[in-house]
Amino acid sequence: MKALVLSGGTGTRLRPFTYAMPKQLIPVAGKPVLRHVLENLRELGVTDIGIVVDARDRRIAAALGDGADLGVRLTFLHQEQPLGLAHCVVLGRDFLGAENFVLHLGDNVLPEGIGALAARFAARRPAAQLVVQKVPDPRRFGVAELDADGAVLRVTEKPDRPRSDLALVGVYFFTAEVHRAVAAIAPGRRGELEITDAVQWLIDAGAEVRAGEYGGYWRDIGCAEDVLACNRRLLEGIRPALAGGVDAASRLTGPVVIEAGARVTGSVIEGPVLIGAGTVVEDSHVGPYTALGRDCVLRHAGIADSVTLDGVTIDRVGGLTGSLIGRAARIGRARPGDGRHRLLVGDDTRIEVAA
Ligand code: G1P
Repeated sequence: MKALVLSGGTGTRLRPFTYAMPKQLIPVAGKPVLRHVLENLRELGVTDIGIVVDARDRRIAAALGDGADLGVRLTFLHQEQPLGLAHCVVLGRDFLGAENFVLHLGDNVLPEGIGALAARFAARRPAAQLVVQKVPDPRRFGVAELDADGAVLRVTEKPDRPRSDLALVGVYFFTAEVHRAVAAIAPGRRGELEITDAVQWLIDAGAEVRAGEYGGYWRDIGCAEDVLACNRRLLEGIRPALAGGVDAASRLTGPVVIEAGARVTGSVIEGPVLIGAGTVVEDSHVGPYTALGRDCVLRHAGIADSVTLDGVTIDRVGGLTGSLIGRAARIGRARPGDGRHRLLVGDDTRIEVAA
């Protein structure tokens, strides 16, 4: 089986971060979202992976290379315009050939893996095997209606009035039959070739389309809150590892990862916490549920339930929480006694000061 991973899209809800990088490269628990996806696929034994990226964007290729360090072989497929998920399948036609494949959205994280679902698809080989999960507000997703036996009766993309609470997870197993479907459909409401329409086309054509409910953790990384929630979840599962230095004056509780070249002095690290390589933490309180990027510097800082990207400096600022901090951002104090705040912030930034 091959895989097609979709990593295009504009990521507007994750601005300003997506001005600097595609959202699939935003780190959760110390690793870009996309790496979590590729590791899941490798665990399935899928190593031949096509990855659809924005044609103008070289950053995903720069971050992943040919996939060798992950043990997979990546083929980059360039999309000129974000014309929809089904359009990505059209683009992947030559790469996929006549093989079965798993279509995996590059912003969907399923840390417990998709092995059981893949096995179900392999055993029965329906034209499409969907993955669904009950959600409180299905209007944000594709929605599936199933019969009692798991056959899919209908799928609808982001319906105003959902007829079930089963959202489509961004993982789909297909046989080559889907190529006829994606070639046949027309753009939908948002002007894109929707994968849900291709699936509906298969159902209408009498093909077998099935769905399995996913009982594990699933998160579609759409906004900052998703990054933080997913970060919390993944950090819960980290295996403690101390490759960096910790002095005797520091106190570590809970699972903590300190990567090579990182240095912690005079600080409280309240796990789960991940401290990236080369990061310096002095006289600070970090955690719980916090992942610091590489080469950050924290002095007299306090931060919990947060993610910082690489090269961030936090100097004499405590009480930070629920924060997502972009690359090389500097957070510090104004001149003593000034009593005012000074902000040099980029477009679409959000600041919430203590009330
Ligand atoms: C896409 C699909 C939708 C699915 C969702 C899962 O939506 O179109 O059916 O439920 O991914 O993440 P998008 O995130 O592109 O709006």
